[in-house]
Amino acid sequence: MSGKLQNKVAIITGSGAGIGKEIARKYAQAGAKVVIADCNEDALKTTVTEFNEAGYDAFGVKVNVDAVVHFGRIDILVNNAGVGDNMQATANVQDTVCQRVMDINVTGMMRAIRQALPVLIENGGGTIVNMALIAGLTGGRGGLAYTNAKHAVVGMTKNIASHYGPQNIRCNAIAPGHVETGFAAAMTNVNPFGMEQSVRGVSLMPKAGQVSDIANIALFLASEDSGLINGVAIAADAGWSTY
Ligand SMILES: NC(=O)c1ccc[n+]([C@@H]2O[C@H](COP(=O)([O-])OP(=O)(O)OC[C@H]3O[C@@H](n4cnc5c(N)ncnc54)[C@H](O)[C@@H]3O)[C@@H](O)[C@H]2O)c1
Repeated sequence: MSGKLQNKVAIITGSGAGIGKEIARKYAQAGAKVVIADCNEDALKTTVTEFNEAGYDAFGVKVNVDAVVHFGRIDILVNNAGVGDNMQATANVQDTVCQRVMDINVTGMMRAIRQALPVLIENGGGTIVNMALIAGLTGGRGGLAYTNAKHAVVGMTKNIASHYGPQNIRCNAIAPGHVETGFAAAMTNVNPFGMEQSVRGVSLMPKAGQVSDIANIALFLASEDSGLINGVAIAADAGWSTY
């Protein structure tokens, strides 16, 4: 098998399910050795078994996103793990929810990148793909904490691209609109006001995304096809945010 990521080593966080799992599958099909990193042990085991049965070079690590780098070599880090905030609007936002969303979506991402960077630099370069959200480029399409966190992801992406681009490291983000995964179903105790405000423009969304749509972009950003692209957040929302 030969592909665009032949012999590359890729760590994908939150890849036991949803978008991350599809990114890992796409990378493996492109020839990469993939590390399935997820805090959900069942999802992790199922995914690794499924991938190994399909003949992919995959192994799993049960980690939080501040995991230690497990391979001697890394070429690609996909920071996909993330959680939402149950659409809490500012007047109702809870400190615990805000803290958790920032810890996982922002601090966890920073720690994963901090650990990966020396390895990438030693290897002569590499690519980082961060999962943002269309609300990381706009204002009202999510709760406060989730919007804050994803704006921080976009800022972190640009900062890293600027600081480490000269060392042959590219860092880009994907900002999807709605993607059909188990993410929305996992929301509990949704804040009615925040939800009402966040979905005001949903009727203008041309279509929901599929995990394969996002995985295709992640493959492009990880491969040399995007060699000149550094520090961008690609809106993956079928043009929803252009209105
Ligand atoms: N689904 C959407 O509509 C949508 C839209 C825009 C952005 N996103 C972003 O895409 C990413 C993935 O979302 P999804 O829809 O695939 O979610 P999902 O809930 O379907 O899957 C997320 C996976 O991440 C894992 N995970 C959660 N917290 C973790 C942690 N701390 N450490 C390690 N693993 C962890 C979960 O166990 C799960 O397997 C998130 O960053 C999310 O914010 C999703």
